[in-house]
Parts: sequence; structure tokens; C-alpha cells
Amino acid sequence: MRKPVVILDFGSQYTQLIARRIRQAHVFSVVLPYTADMETIRALGPSGLVLSGSPSAVTMKDAPSCSPEVFALGIPVLGVCYGMHLMAQALGGSVEKAGKREYGLRAVSLDTRARLFSGLKPECNSWMSHGYQVDALPPGFTVTAHTDTCPYAAMEDPDRMLYAVQFHPETSHSEQGMEIISRFLTDICGCQQDWRMEGFAEQAVAEIREAVGNGTVLLGLSGGIDSAVCAALLSRAIGGRLYCVFVDHGFMRKDEPRLVREVFSGHFPLHLSAVDASDRFYAKLTGVTDPERKRKIIGAEFVQVFREEALKLGALDHFAQGTIYPDVIESGAAPGSTVIKSHHNVGGLPKELGFTSLVEPLRTLFKDEVRELGRVLGLPGAMTERQPFPGPGLAIRTLGVLTREKVGITRQSDAILREEFEKAGLNGSVSQFFTVNTDLRSVGVMGDERSYDTAVAIRAVTTDDFMTADWARIPYETLATVSRRIVNEVHGVNRVLLDVTTKPPASIEWE
Ligand code: XMP
Repeated sequence: MRKPVVILDFGSQYTQLIARRIRQAHVFSVVLPYTADMETIRALGPSGLVLSGSPSAVTMKDAPSCSPEVFALGIPVLGVCYGMHLMAQALGGSVEKAGKREYGLRAVSLDTRARLFSGLKPECNSWMSHGYQVDALPPGFTVTAHTDTCPYAAMEDPDRMLYAVQFHPETSHSEQGMEIISRFLTDICGCQQDWRMEGFAEQAVAEIREAVGNGTVLLGLSGGIDSAVCAALLSRAIGGRLYCVFVDHGFMRKDEPRLVREVFSGHFPLHLSAVDASDRFYAKLTGVTDPERKRKIIGAEFVQVFREEALKLGALDHFAQGTIYPDVIESGAAPGSTVIKSHHNVGGLPKELGFTSLVEPLRTLFKDEVRELGRVLGLPGAMTERQPFPGPGLAIRTLGVLTREKVGITRQSDAILREEFEKAGLNGSVSQFFTVNTDLRSVGVMGDERSYDTAVAIRAVTTDDFMTADWARIPYETLATVSRRIVNEVHGVNRVLLDVTTKPPASIEWE
């Protein structure tokens, strides 16, 4: 059996990012809650252990903790931020409130004689996010990094195979972060770098079979890549016991319903029912302008349509969703995180639906990993290379009240944008792009006539993980063509804007 690296999760937003970096280094990892007992950890025969960060402080009453036995397992341990504090506290050092809270990129000086840092550049910028820090090293440890305000920014005791960093090497902002993680995995833990996404697929298929048994599963295909990959994975695991429902809520992109039908009618064994429920959604949304209410109404109606479809299909046992990790975090489902938006595909199911369980096989993956998994599963390029598309679709890209006419403007301008970006070869380099019907009207001239029409905005971003994003630098020529075509071809539009905001502070979607 392959020996995993175990990550003990103390509730940090970055825990899954650690898991993702480990996958990126082609090493098999398992995330366990900090409450996992020693027996469970030992049974996995781990080749190393990573202790995650946490929103708590070790000095707080009831702070999440783990048995000090984890430091005596005879395997390498890497403590990250809170994990470092736990290590220090458990082994005779101490932790105190920092004079100044450190948040953001900080210059860190590394001692390159340290086992964890040998061969690296001695100075680098690393991501810090902490209000507490180690103020006395435990016996046997040496300090291996510092910043201006943090004298013990890393420590190690190579004889006991214990390593710890105050900063977050897992975030993409941290220079040399991936090197530090790779060094821990290879030089220190001696892991084989032979894990591939096929491994995830195999593991997920086995887990689905175990969770589902001989039961049947209902899955909603939203038109986006997440649910498509989820369908492909479930199809591999349980084939004809998978029932997919594609609800066209009226906020799909141009040609989307057709594409979904085409892909899932031939490639994968599953039952597909497509429902046009757009009248119901528009009726429920009449007069609604508040973004959160829109999302909630769409989410609730979605579940309602599901319930009806499930009834039509006869009793089905389980309900599946293509929830991915950023959805989990942003919905506040991860411990210690706050709710940013309510994603309609997170949050469990109303009990009366009667399903015995919720199956979410992509819950730990980031978007680019979902894409890779789709390729591994044999989904056609037209689907795996597609951009993420939010469940509520064009409804959250059409600001203000929703009418078929306004959503039509969003849909047509989006189709033009997609066509032109494709022609310009931008599909590979821009992570997500779409248009937004801003619901803003402004004055223009069309021929000799005064117009008072809608402004459409272009949103185009580059990102690795959709948690942070930069606005994409689109060639002016492409922007010029898109703008010209939109005002000429989309009735009711007389102005095109470009959104040049990063995430944060803006989100990628406008609602
Ligand atoms: P934001 O707007 O939160 O978007 O920066 C991050 C990524 O998530 C997508 N998104 C959603 N996906 N259901 C989804 O499945 C949703 O309700 C939802 N809202 C946003 C968004 O398109 C972007 O890729």
C-alpha cells in the first residue's frame, strides 16, 4: 500500500492548499481532522505528518490540539503556523501574542544550513498570517529563519525529524514555498513522487462505491465543468445506477443545453433527463434585485425541481453534487471561515428529500485539478477546457431585476466575447471571462439617433485557484473587436466597459 503524508487539519483555510501542493509534488496525501486518534494515524502508515494552521491560538481555552505522541511517531513532522505553535508548546517551548500582527508578504531570512532550507536562496518573501508566535524554542531545536518582527520564523530538530515554519509555504505568494514543501516530502520524508491524478480517480471511484453500495444516485448537471466531471467520475464508479438531471433554469450560456446533451448522451453510461424549468425560475425571481436573494431563490428552486424529478424517476438513494474546495471555503463550511457568498451547491439537503447521503467527490479539489481529473476520465476537450460556470449562471451576471430580454443581452454578448477570445487564442491564458449586463443605462448616438441603452462589462481574469485573481491584460485589438461587435450585434447595448479589478477586493463574479 502506498504510504501517504497525513495532514492534520486544525481548521485553517489553507489546509486543502497544503494537500494540493503535496499532490502537485506527486505525493499521495490524506487530510484528517485534528480529532483523529493515534490509532487512525498509525493505521495509515504515514511517511510524514503536516500540522496545519488554524484560526485559533494555542494559548486559548479549548484550542484545537493533538496528542503529543504525534511528535514521537518516528516520522518527519512539519508544523505550519499554528502547527509550529503546537509543536513548540508540546515540547517545552512557548508561544506568545506577537507585538504586531503579521499579515501579508514578509521578507524572511532563511538559514540555508538548515535541513529544510538547504540549497534555497537565503532571502525570500513569504506569506504570513498570524497574531501569535514562538517566543522560546523547545530544547533540542535551532532557529532556522527570522523576520524583522519574528525572531523564530522557523525551527527544526533534525535528529527527531521535527520541522516547523511560521509562514505559509503552501500559498502561491510564498517564494520558494513549493521547494520547501518538496524538500520536506522528498529529502526528509523520502516519499516517491509517483502519485498522479489517475490515483485520485481510482481512490474516488473506490470511495464512491463504498459510500453508495448498490444504491442509486441523482446528480444535477449544471452545465459547468464541476458537475460534468462529477458525472464522469460517478459514471465510472456506478454506471447505470447514476441518474443525471439537467435543469435548464433559463440562465445558461448560448448552446450550453445542447452541449451537455451531446456529451452525456454518448460518452458515459448514465440516465439523463433534461428539464426546461426556466418559466418557473423567472416567475420566482420577478422583481428580485438583491444578489444574495437571487442566489437563494435559484438554489431553493433548483432543489425543488430536483425533488420533483427524483420523484418522477422513482426513489433514488443518494444525491451527488460537484462541490469543489473553493465553494466549501467561501460558503463558510470550512471551520473558522466566514460566509462570503452562499453557493447554491453547498450546504446539504433538506431532510424531506429522502436521500440517505450527499456524495461530493470533488470536495477537496481546486478548479485546475478538476480539469485535470476530467481529462484523466476521458471527457472531451470541449468540456474539460471549458471555463468554470457558476450554478446560478447568467442570473448573477445580469444585475438588477431579471427579464428574458436582459438575460438575452448577457447571453449574446457573452457568446461574442467567447468567439473572439477563441479566435485570438486567449482561451489557454485567460482563466475565466464573461460579460456582465450592468443594468446601467447611458446616453449614446446610433446613426443620427440618440440612444439610452445598456452598458455591458467585460470581466476577464487570470488565476490559479480562483481564490485570488488578477484582471487579464487583453490585447487592445481583441477588446476593440469585441466592443464593436457587441454594440453592433446585441440590440439594446450602446456601451462596453472593461473590469480592471483584482480579487480581492472584488470577487470574480459581480453578484
Ligand atoms: P467569485 O465570484 O466568488 O468566484 O470570486 C470564484 C469562482 O467561483 C465561481 N462561482 C460559482 N460556482 N456556484 C458555482 O458552482 C456558485 O454559486 C458560484 N459563484 C461563483 C465563479 O464563476 C468563479 O469561477
